[in-house]
Amino acid sequence: MNEPNWNDYGPETQAIRAGQRRTHEQEHSDPIFLTSSYVFNSAAEAAARFSGKEPGNIYSRFTNPTVRTFEQRLAAMEGGERCIAVASGMAAIASVGFGLLKSGDHVVCSRGVFGNTVILFQNYFAKFGVSTTFVDLTDYEAWQHAIRPETRFLFVETPSNPLTQIADICRLADIAHNLGVLLVVDNCFLTPALQKPLALGADIVIHSATKYLDGQGRCVGGAIVGKLDLLDKEIYPYLRTGGPTMSPFNAWVFLKGLETLGIRMRAHGENAFESGALAGNSSLG
Ligand SMILES: Cc1ncc(COP(=O)(O)O)c(C=O)c1O
Repeated sequence: MNEPNWNDYGPETQAIRAGQRRTHEQEHSDPIFLTSSYVFNSAAEAAARFSGKEPGNIYSRFTNPTVRTFEQRLAAMEGGERCIAVASGMAAIASVGFGLLKSGDHVVCSRGVFGNTVILFQNYFAKFGVSTTFVDLTDYEAWQHAIRPETRFLFVETPSNPLTQIADICRLADIAHNLGVLLVVDNCFLTPALQKPLALGADIVIHSATKYLDGQGRCVGGAIVGKLDLLDKEIYPYLRTGGPTMSPFNAWVFLKGLETLGIRMRAHGENAFESGALAGNSSLG
């Protein structure tokens, strides 16, 4: 059966169905494929799989059916063509950097991002000759002026952690694209239930799945979502080689988290309005 076009379905259906492939056991819930590797019918088949001439599972560092289901489900929910699941939110940001950057490149990043993101750019990517300029989240002139010929991407977290400042993603996408650079958005806080950065012009979405995607404090994980070509050509080869892989067990837990994402995020919003935490006005609910 052909894969449905998940863009034609609502978010609640995507959250429980996208990426699911029932086995001959006709299970209701997604199975967990706890396997490091796979059997091949012949050495020729193994050779064809490893060289990429034939599609199929090879080795769970970079091909696992449960992880793939999570990737396809989150891609559908974010409105992206491709998702790459990784071991943590920080692994997602590091993988984007290792995949896209080379020595001499430059990144512009909002100042109010998660502390380890600052350390990653400032201490670690700097060791490989990548420089970063930090700008205020909503100072759009500063974003524009910070871009240089060697800038590869803008990185923004919106809402920011921990100050929950909000950036205009459409405006940042325009600034980035007018000067030929990519826009990467950390969408950890709002999730696709409340914000879809790709539809607003972002090129790549980052997740710490550890937060609301799981929502129940069980696993650490991360994800990168975006265009098929960009992710397959520039980031997936790093996952295959560098190995910041999501485990199939964690992927299964995150699948269960995605199933309830919509109603949980709705409840978070309602609770915040009720307590007056949003806009300082409880009547807005
Ligand atoms: C906005 C944001 N991005 C990324 C991360 C890193 O995610 P992880 O803890 O899954 O590595 C965090 C963690 O708190 C975060 O808040």
